[in-house]
Amino acid sequence: MNILILGSGGREHAFAWKLAQSKKLNKLFIAPGNAGTAGVGTNVNISATDFNAIKKLVLENTISMVIVGPEDPLVKGIYDFFLSDVRLKNIPVIGPSKDGAQLEGSKDFSKRFMFRHNIPTASYETFTRDTLTEGLKFLETLTPPYVLKADGLAAGKGVVIPTTLDEAKKELTEMLANAKFGNASAKVVIEEFLKGIELSVFVLTDGTTYKILPSAKDYKRIGEGDTGLNTGGMGAISPVPFADEAFIKKVEEQVIIPTINGLKQEGIIYKGFIFIGLMNMNGDPKVIEYNVRMGDPETEVVIPRIKSDLLDLFEGVANENLNEKKIELDSRFATTVMLVAGGYPEEYKKGDVITGLELVKNSIAFHAGTSQLSTKNHQPTTVTNGGRVIAVTSYGNTMDEALKKSFANAERIKFKDKYYRKDIGNDLKEL
Ligand code: AMP
Ligand code: GLY
Repeated sequence: MNILILGSGGREHAFAWKLAQSKKLNKLFIAPGNAGTAGVGTNVNISATDFNAIKKLVLENTISMVIVGPEDPLVKGIYDFFLSDVRLKNIPVIGPSKDGAQLEGSKDFSKRFMFRHNIPTASYETFTRDTLTEGLKFLETLTPPYVLKADGLAAGKGVVIPTTLDEAKKELTEMLANAKFGNASAKVVIEEFLKGIELSVFVLTDGTTYKILPSAKDYKRIGEGDTGLNTGGMGAISPVPFADEAFIKKVEEQVIIPTINGLKQEGIIYKGFIFIGLMNMNGDPKVIEYNVRMGDPETEVVIPRIKSDLLDLFEGVANENLNEKKIELDSRFATTVMLVAGGYPEEYKKGDVITGLELVKNSIAFHAGTSQLSTKNHQPTTVTNGGRVIAVTSYGNTMDEALKKSFANAERIKFKDKYYRKDIGNDLKEL
C-alpha cells in the first residue's frame, strides 16, 4: 500500500517510523513532513490543509490511505472532502468526519455531547457576546479558580484559568467583547474547576468497535515543577502508573463506550483516534476535553508501545472490522523528553544547526520542528524549524531507566539555546 501522512511534527514522525516497519507498506509519503520523516519516507511540500493539492498527490501516486496527524484538516472537513469526490471516495481517511471533529473544534459542542450521553465532565454554561452580562453575573456565583474556554480552535491557547473574580471578568470581556481569540472566542464556555491528576487515554475506533491504546501523561508547562507558560507539551510518559486496570475500566464504561455509541446514534461518522483528556478525581474519571487526533508528544510514547502492525490496525478502521484485529502492547515504559528552542513558547529562532543526532544511543530521536538543508558537498544539514525541535523517546523496564536514557541522549543532541525540562516524570515518582 502507498500511504500518505499529513502533518509535520513529532507525532507524524512517530507514525511514519511505525508505518515504515509494516510489511504491508509500499511507499510512504508525508506532507509536509520534517527532516525526520524524510529518513523513513518521501516528504512532499504541501500543506496539510491544501485539499486540492492533496487530491492531486493522492491520485498521482496511487495512495490508498491517508492518515491525518493534526486537527486542522479534520475540523476543515478532509474526511468529507474525500467522501464527496468520485475519485477519492474509496480512499480511506483515518480521522473523523467534519461533524465528528467538532468534538475538538467546538468546546460548546463537546460539552453538549457529553451531557446528552451522560459522560462525566465539569458542569458549565456557554455565553456569547449578547449574553456577556449574564456571563459576568454567572462568574459571581462561582468560586475560584475560574475556567474559561474559547469555543473554537485557538492554537492551544484558548483555555484561561484566572484565580480572581476580577481577572475572570476581565478575561471574559476580552474574549467575548474584544474577540481576544478572534472568531474562536465568539462563544465562551465557563466551567467548574476540576481538582485531580490529569492523564490522557487514547482510543482507535472504526465507528462501532474500538481498541484502547496505552495511556500517557503529558507535561504542558515550559518550566520545571509545572510552572510558566503552557506549551504544546514538553515530555510524556506511558503507561501512567496511577491509571490502573480498575481506573481504565471506569473510563471504558463511563466514557469510551458512551462516546462511541453516542456518535453512532447521532449519525456522526467517526473512524480514527479519540484522545480523551481526563482528570482522575480520587479514582473517578471526568473528561476535560476531547481531541480528534493523537496527542503530541503523547504519540511519541504511545506508538512505540504498540507492537502490532499499525497499518493492519488502520485497515481494520477503514474496513470496519477492527474487532477482528489483535493489538499487542509492549509492557515496558516509554518516556519522551522534548528539546525546544530557546524562548519557546514565546518568540524563538529557527534555522539553527542540529548536531549529535548520530550519537544517540538506546533512544529514538523523533523530529518535531526540524528541516533538512542541502548544503555544499550535498551533505544534508538538519536545522531547527519550530519551537519544539526533537522528542527523545526511550524504553525501560522502569520509568527511571527509560528517563535516564532520554536525558542522556538529550545532552548528546546539540543546537543553540536548546532547553528541556529535567523533571519529566518526577511527579509520578512522588505518588
Ligand atoms: P484544554 O485546552 O481543554 O486541554 O485545557 C488546557 C488545560 O487546562 C488542561 O490540560 C487542564 O490542565 C486545564 N483545564 C481545562 N479544563 C479544566 C477544568 N475544568 N478544571 C481544571 N483544569 C482544567
Ligand atoms: N500534548 C497535548 C496535545 O497534543 O494536545
